[in-house]
Parts: sequence; structure tokens; C-alpha cells
Amino acid sequence: MVSSPALVLVSKSLLRNCNGVSSVLAQRASSTWWGDVKMGPPDAILGIAEAFKKDPNPKKINLGAGTYRDDNGKPYVLPSILKAEQRITESRMDKEYAPISGYPEFTKHAIALALGDDNPVLSAGRNATVQSISGTGALRVAAAFLNSFFPGSREIYLPVPSWGNHVPIFKHAGLQINSYRYYDPKSCGLNFTAALEDISKIPERSIVLLHACAHNPTGVDPRREQWKELSAVIKQRNLFPFFDMAYQGFASGDIDNDAFAVRQFLADGHDIILTQSFAKNMGLYGERAGAMTVVCRDKDEAERVLSQVKILIRPMYSNPPIHGARLVTEILKDNQLRSEWLKDVKGMADRIIGVRQDLRTALEKLGSPRNWQHITDQIGMFCFTGMDQAQCERIIKDYSVYLTKDGRISMSGVNSKNVQYLAESIHAVTK
Ligand SMILES: Cc1ncc(COP(=O)(O)O)c(C=O)c1O
Repeated sequence: MVSSPALVLVSKSLLRNCNGVSSVLAQRASSTWWGDVKMGPPDAILGIAEAFKKDPNPKKINLGAGTYRDDNGKPYVLPSILKAEQRITESRMDKEYAPISGYPEFTKHAIALALGDDNPVLSAGRNATVQSISGTGALRVAAAFLNSFFPGSREIYLPVPSWGNHVPIFKHAGLQINSYRYYDPKSCGLNFTAALEDISKIPERSIVLLHACAHNPTGVDPRREQWKELSAVIKQRNLFPFFDMAYQGFASGDIDNDAFAVRQFLADGHDIILTQSFAKNMGLYGERAGAMTVVCRDKDEAERVLSQVKILIRPMYSNPPIHGARLVTEILKDNQLRSEWLKDVKGMADRIIGVRQDLRTALEKLGSPRNWQHITDQIGMFCFTGMDQAQCERIIKDYSVYLTKDGRISMSGVNSKNVQYLAESIHAVTK
């Protein structure tokens, strides 16, 4: 409504005459719409990065963020990605919108990478796969789909601990959060007995979240026989397995080995949800390339599911970004480039496996009385060191080694130049 100047004058004088009311309105007029919004806590990882930046210590190490760094501590663009990028630039592709479910060629190659080219799920057309805004977006879309359509309880069971963003993502989508035991702080390994015991008590027709490989934050994965047992219990309890696979290839250096659990569950007859990220294994962090798949009973079911997932995506972000998906497609569809990428991803995984060994050896050589075997037993980007909160606070304050207070270190920040200093710092606060 537009007010005339005369009307404004009348209403102002009216306000002046109404004691009390005028002061409340005047107060409201001088305050802002968002005056009651409180400052939220900083993101744990970004907070670490800020503190690290301000620290003048030349020996400082940032082990907070889960992004790969080379042996000089620098961000790494994979050579295979550089080649793919060049091809895309030279072919002068257009910048049109992708379909709501993403590029068909991308989704076809992404899911084949996870399940294996010859997986019967693919030949039967049982997968409803969409391109997503990396792994986080895949999780968010999957959660929205589950909240709208899952025929059982809207409760999702997460391992303890789990990636810090899992709870907010699932909560935001309206799912109820529950948990099962996973990590054993005494051995810094898997508490398989407890996990099995808890999972076998989850009410039937609930959702259980599993990290397909390189569990974040612990780096602790079940062994193959243990995955098989988990699969049997999950089947027996009639639970729905949801696999988050953010590190395929990055864990062991072998994409098939890292996809073992997902493929085993499918072979055992589970229908699953799978989320994939190309952030780590292709170094495409900021490109936001990922995929979400619902494995269905048959092709008809998959088509119906896909139609509903698209209806959920449309009002969220319309359609996914194109550049990252083009890079992934370029790599996966071309045999030569694909084999170069497999070498690149193995190179990253091998460097991480190597510095794990170096760190453990250095700690042992320093005469640490602790058992550090878990450093080499764990796998992937992260190591759950077993340091408690007080030790973490001390190593940050006295040694400028930055990490999350749960004792998690990103192994990608460790290299041949800083591993000795890191070992000395860990030894100093844990002896
Ligand atoms: C377990 C897990 N899931 C999903 C993601 C999603 O990452 P992004 O959204 O960068 O692909 C991450 C990233 O750290 C992760 O560790």
C-alpha cells in the first residue's frame, strides 16, 4: 500500500498523542528486522583455519581440513583433471542448463564407477541416479527423498562418531537421528562387537547409515568378513542400508577395493541408497560434483523414484552445476584419461599411506610408550590419534599444530618436511 504525505502526517501526530504506543512503535522503527538473531558458533573446521592463519609460528601445521595437499603442503590439481579441462575448453561447450537430474552421461559413468561396469543392477536399469551438488548435496537430496517416501520409520542410525555434517543434514531434512556404537577409544579401532550388537537391536524398517570406505572422522573401516556379517544382520533385521561413499579410490588407491562394501551389499540382495562425491578422488572440491542413487527392485520402480527425486530437486536448486560433471565425464568415458586418473588417485592414496608409516615410525623412534599401530591401521584422509581434548589444546597452543579437539588429524596436511616436528609435538603432549 502507498501512503499519501497527508496520511503520513496524520498518522505521525496520532502516534505522538498515544502515549506508550508511540514509544513502542518508535522503538520498532529504529530496530532492524534481524535484531533478535544471535551470533551462531563458527564452523569448527573454518575456525581452525582462521586461528592457523593468524599464528606467526613458522613451524605451524594445519591438520584440520579434509583437503588433499601435496608433499609441499600445496593444493593439488590432478594432472588428469588438467587434461580433461583442456579438452573441455577446446571443444567450446555451451553453458546451457543441465537437466534436473544432471547430465545423463555423467550419472551413467558415476554409478558404474561405484557398482562396477558389469553390475546386474545397471543392466536391469534398477538405479535411479541423479547428479548432485557433491557429496553433501547428494546426502541432502537422499534425506529429503527418505523423509517424503521411506515406508518405514523416519529414524536414521549413524555410527558414533560420524562426519560432523551428517546430523545437521539429516535433521534439516526432518529425519530423526539415532546412533550405533562404532569406534573403540581403547584400541583406536573398530568396536565390531558393539556395532553388531547395536545394529541387531535397531527396530525393523529403520535406516542405517554406513561409510562405504575411509570412515570420517576415525579412518577405521570394517574388514571384508566384517562387512559380510554386517550385511547379514542388516538383512535379517530388515533395515535399509544407506551408503555414504565420499572417498572411493582415495582410501586404498584402488577404486574396486574401496567399493567392496557397496557391491557386497548389492550382491547380498539389499536395495540401497548411495551417495558419491568426486571432491576427494578427483580433487574437485569446489566444483561440487557428486551423485545420489536409489537402487530399486526393478526398472519401473526406478523410473517412478527418479521422477519423484526430480520433483524434490526442482524447488531446491533447479539443476546441478555443469563444469565439474563435465570433467568427471571426460575422465571416466575415455580409457586413456581414465587410466591416468587411476594413477593420480593411487598417487594421492599412496602418499597418505606413506606418511602414516613415517609418523608412526618417528613416534616409535622418539621412544613413545604408546602403541601407535592405529595410525597405519586406519585408512583415508583422517587419523583418529587418540589424543584427548586437553592434549589437543596443548598441541595447538604450545606447538601450533592445528586439529579438531576430538583428536582427528587430516593426514593430507602431513608431509616429509613436517612429519618429524609433528611426531615430536605429539610425543611431547602424550608422554
Ligand atoms: C563422510 C563424508 N561424506 C560426505 C562428504 C561430502 O563432501 P563434499 O560435499 O565436499 O563432496 C564428506 C566430506 O568431507 C565426508 O567426509
